[in-house]
Amino acid sequence: MSTVAEHYERHLAPIYVWMAGGAEAAVQAGGAEIDALSLPVARGAFVLDLGAGFGLHSIPLARRGARVTAIDSSAELLRTLAELSGDLPVQAVNDDLLAFQDHIAEAPSAILCMGDTITHLPAFGDVEKLVEQVSIELAPGGVFVASFRDYSVPLTGEQRFIPVRSDETRILTCFLEYEPEAVLAHDIIHERTADGWQTRVSHYRKLRLSPERLIACLQWNGFETRREAGMRGMVRVLARRL
Ligand SMILES: C[S@@+](CC[C@H](N)C(=O)[O-])C[C@H]1O[C@@H](n2cnc3c(N)ncnc32)[C@H](O)[C@@H]1O
Repeated sequence: MSTVAEHYERHLAPIYVWMAGGAEAAVQAGGAEIDALSLPVARGAFVLDLGAGFGLHSIPLARRGARVTAIDSSAELLRTLAELSGDLPVQAVNDDLLAFQDHIAEAPSAILCMGDTITHLPAFGDVEKLVEQVSIELAPGGVFVASFRDYSVPLTGEQRFIPVRSDETRILTCFLEYEPEAVLAHDIIHERTADGWQTRVSHYRKLRLSPERLIACLQWNGFETRREAGMRGMVRVLARRL
């Protein structure tokens, strides 16, 4: 099994933009999600994007006037983010998202952890740690948003084989294997080469975090919460610091 960082560096990062449907379409979809959130983000406001990837949310936020710090453990995805964001006020930071406090000099108006990033944390204790850190650092009235896949109810049989994306040269399928607290995500990549189709497989562990468990943790830390449907079948939890 790979660590999350190894899985992205060796397996997913090189095809991530393709997997997301291309940079332009993905950033447009991210922008639509940002608009739907109605974040309390005035022009010039400071926003943190944790597990930012190639900037699907960071770039639209910066286009709407925010100053964004985008933290991710994948150097390759951050290089793509830097290329795509150009002169926009997006600072890319290559670090673990749990170390975000080392990279902020002011209270963020919003902290995002979108696109199933929070389930990449190793254990529920790390989710608790993140929520506690967010509750300390967020500006009063600020908002924390997490969107993620709810793996708490296991898929069974052939439902566990998830076609992610395919075209004439590449097929990406994800197979889910359930453990009591986690799910092993096996990403199977078939690629057409000059020698025919080649297959690469890598897997990593993701948390089976239920929305109810995250919401209880947020409320315990003094947040008012709202749950709604997110993009691509994810659940989205918005938490406002009272
Ligand atoms: C599923 S992608 C989501 C990316 C982006 N937020 C989006 O919506 O497209 C998860 C991202 O989180 C990053 N990541 C996972 N665990 C991390 C950690 N502990 N610290 C920093 N980044 C992490 C991965 O490198 C990857 O870019």
